Amino acid sequence: MAVIPNEQPLFSLENLLAGGTGVEFEQQLQVRAAHLDLPVVLTPEACALLLETSAEQWRLLPEDTRARGLVQDLLAVGLLIVEEGEPAQPRQSDQRVRDGHWWALSAIHHRHSRWAGVDSASDMVKNHLVTAQDLVQQLGKPPAEAPDRQAGAIALPRAMPDAVAELLAGRTTCRNFDPDRPLPLDVLAGMLQHVLMAQAQVETEPGVRFLKKNVPSAGSLHPLEAFVVARNVEGLSTGIYHYHAVAHELGREATQPEDMDGFCLRLLSGQHWFASAHAMVVLVCRFGRNFWKYRNHAKAYRAVSLDVGHVSQALYTAATAKGLGAFVTAAINESEIESLLGFDPMVDGALAVCGFGWRADAMATAEFDPAGQVWTHWGQT
Ligand SMILES: Cc1cc2nc3c(=O)[nH]c(=O)nc-3n(C[C@H](O)[C@H](O)[C@H](O)COP(=O)(O)O)c2cc1C
Repeated sequence: MAVIPNEQPLFSLENLLAGGTGVEFEQQLQVRAAHLDLPVVLTPEACALLLETSAEQWRLLPEDTRARGLVQDLLAVGLLIVEEGEPAQPRQSDQRVRDGHWWALSAIHHRHSRWAGVDSASDMVKNHLVTAQDLVQQLGKPPAEAPDRQAGAIALPRAMPDAVAELLAGRTTCRNFDPDRPLPLDVLAGMLQHVLMAQAQVETEPGVRFLKKNVPSAGSLHPLEAFVVARNVEGLSTGIYHYHAVAHELGREATQPEDMDGFCLRLLSGQHWFASAHAMVVLVCRFGRNFWKYRNHAKAYRAVSLDVGHVSQALYTAATAKGLGAFVTAAINESEIESLLGFDPMVDGALAVCGFGWRADAMATAEFDPAGQVWTHWGQT
């Protein structure tokens, strides 16, 4: 649980008439808990009571009427929980966090950095933060693109281009997909096989197995599950599938979005330029697999985030090799996939969405290709 002193600016006519700026600040104590989705604003008195309540030992309801009232308010918002009976939901949610071996600050960060109902694409337009020029106008200049050079630094030789260099250089985040050209199922299968499939496994003792994949993973635990959103794949009905990394198969989820276009747009927080990708992969972390080893560990959440980065880069590289465009985004409304598939975000957390497919012939949304690797090199204009 984290208590955050929050100051909200408020317009005050009184202040303005008295010759002030018209802005006053309302001070609030916001409490964020890892088992609750939303912050709760508390009075200093309720906050003090909460802070002096043990997180480990049950206590009887206080006799004193005022204290009892405060406790009941805290029970109603789920910050205090009852040992048995109703309300059961905050207790169960709290228990799942405790059982999950989260490091407390990571747990709060993860729970409260998730989005629901955010339209980042519209927000960017509304706040004039779309182009680099907009950004500089609103935010001033960014720190330099690279630190100052060091005197006496050793000049390095430039390597001759080879196949790996060309493959890496051919990657550009794709924001323009071709809706008229479906992606063959075997191309999707190849992407999954090269990046996410277990290439081998080791059973260290009965029932304990570790997978070998083409991407690295902290502790060799591979906690990321791939939920494939098939939008435009030949031979595969539109829908959401779980990819089984050992069996190399797609299991269709029992619950599917009623409106796939709307679902994808909301999942991608309004980023329509990604929503038309032929296939997307929602990377969902089974935290329990990593936290089994990295128990209550300050680096565990960072490690699973790095696992996501490796999968994303490998998907980019494999896509480039197959002549596809790819993307990754963390600007997602996690709540969309969580509520559809019934995930507790502290157990199975969506961390990013990757996607890939055939590029469109024309660039409607800007891509960053200053070296002309994609848009001239491949004959696209
Ligand atoms: C972690 C991560 C998150 C990203 N999120 C977004 C995003 O939300 N929307 C978007 O259009 N691009 C996103 N990108 C793509 C970057 O904008 C892109 O990598 C950058 O502009 C450089 O272009 P390049 O990938 O073509 O080299 C993301 C990239 C990374 C690595």
